[in-house]
Amino acid sequence: MTAPRLRVAVLASGRGSNLQALIVARDAGVLPVDFVVVGSDKPNAGALQLAKDACIPTFTLNPKDFANRRDFDFELFRRLDASGAQVLVLAGFMRIIDGEALAPWVGRMINVHPSLLPKYRGLHTHRRALEAGDAEHGASVHYVTAELDGGPVIAQARIAIQPGDDEGQLAQRLLTFEHQLLPAVLKLIAEQRLDLIAPNRVALDGKLLDTPLQLRHGALVD
Ligand code: GRF
Repeated sequence: MTAPRLRVAVLASGRGSNLQALIVARDAGVLPVDFVVVGSDKPNAGALQLAKDACIPTFTLNPKDFANRRDFDFELFRRLDASGAQVLVLAGFMRIIDGEALAPWVGRMINVHPSLLPKYRGLHTHRRALEAGDAEHGASVHYVTAELDGGPVIAQARIAIQPGDDEGQLAQRLLTFEHQLLPAVLKLIAEQRLDLIAPNRVALDGKLLDTPLQLRHGALVD
């Protein structure tokens, strides 16, 4: 008998290219998960259309319909609980989430962030890396905790910053690596090989990682 596949929910606010990379990996048979729902705070998010095209149920919650962030977030997680999701992926979900609302999901909720965390939490990461004169840039997938972009980092992809790179070029070049990084991490979770060890460590196959896994030639290495 084959093991049941991991049930995954995705939240996205934008075009959804990371969601698309997850769907492609699933369809290719390399990511043993089922996407049970895709949610957004933006009714026109491209991610919602991508989900519909892939026959994944969707929902939108408009923050304006809620008195405050906390009410929005509790309704958000009520929907996610109702979907039966076991794991939640933030793939370009551009909202800060209330710490109390997300607490039950700590350890089964990941985010992809376009910087080499702990550098450049928050927005405009590509611009900030360029302005700092960094030689390299990258993306991180981390467990989500109440601290914005501050949860333990699972894995990173690194790229060299080229002379003459502008913000758009750098973002675009990095995105192709995000599209490898996120499915690779979710695969480890689906295979039950990753754990968050409270409060801020990551274990792979039961062994604590001293540094994040690195994406090399499309594979994660220790
Ligand atoms: C990505 O750069 C991701 O790292 C960041 O938001 C962007 C989302 O892009 N959190 P997309 O919507 O997945 O194309």
